[in-house]
Amino acid sequence: MTTQPKILVARATFDSVLARLSEHLDVQANQDDVIFSREQLLANLQGKQGVCTGGSERIDAPLLAACPDLKIASNVAVGYNNFDVDACTAAGVVCTNTPDVLTETTADMAFALLMATARRVSESEAFLRRGEWKKFKFDLLCGSDVHGSTLGILGMGRIGQAIARRGALGFGMNVIYHNRSRLSAEQEAPIKARYVSKQALFEQADHVVLVLPYSPAVHHTVGAGEIALMKPTATLINIGRGGLIDENALADALAQGRLMGAGLDVFEGEPTVNPRLLEQTRVVLTPHVGSATVPTRLAMANLAADNLIAFLTGKRPPTPINPQVLGSA
Ligand code: GLV
Repeated sequence: MTTQPKILVARATFDSVLARLSEHLDVQANQDDVIFSREQLLANLQGKQGVCTGGSERIDAPLLAACPDLKIASNVAVGYNNFDVDACTAAGVVCTNTPDVLTETTADMAFALLMATARRVSESEAFLRRGEWKKFKFDLLCGSDVHGSTLGILGMGRIGQAIARRGALGFGMNVIYHNRSRLSAEQEAPIKARYVSKQALFEQADHVVLVLPYSPAVHHTVGAGEIALMKPTATLINIGRGGLIDENALADALAQGRLMGAGLDVFEGEPTVNPRLLEQTRVVLTPHVGSATVPTRLAMANLAADNLIAFLTGKRPPTPINPQVLGSA
């Protein structure tokens, strides 16, 4: 009997996905969803050729040195800032992620946060639940308009473009964006998206949405200086990574009424949320649920499994991050 390659599935997943993995691989699961300490992760990875990570287990040079059998790290997330991809590439370890399958669902969530922030949905509900709604009041909980306003998207990849489509085609928004590279004229035309400088984006947008991939180079992309450029009636939405925003600068701005509101799905120290943000009423806070629908989470888990099964049975994984490790075969 041939022995199957061994993998660790570091976080709980769907039973159906575990069953698929187990048809091809020798699987150590973690269905109790224990959050492994670094030491536990290293111990559990001994002798494993593959790991399925949940987006927060850090795969870096010291881990690779301590786990010499590891050949593939498969993230169940599109973002992969938990991977030191250069270190993995240098060690010949393939990294994979789950793009595409979560694009539309995550764009829906960006819009949910945008709408909730602009129209003060959480604040309105809290007001009602506190029993403070005693009479109709003409100026009660007035927010900002979404339709016809200017949507500024920072990071115009797949998810940014899906948000832009919703804004332009669904809400008649004027779309401006900034990105490392400009879209082609064919991509810009259907949504009438206009490429602007980062400064112009902060100055002109009524709603700024952050959806760029996180790396140390973009740490605190939004700080006091950027917030000072924004209109006081503007909102700031973050569905990328918490580190994109200087949360203390944002808390200051909200406390001083220098910004209409913020909608945040991701946080610098998550799952711990900066207590200064928790004190603010003009901020809609959700616990990193951008891609959290059952069909999308299932598609993500299955794609992560496809990557592991393909690579560890001698085939090309469908969504490699560092394809150079695979060579041209
Ligand atoms: C979630 O944050 C992801 O990167 O997929």
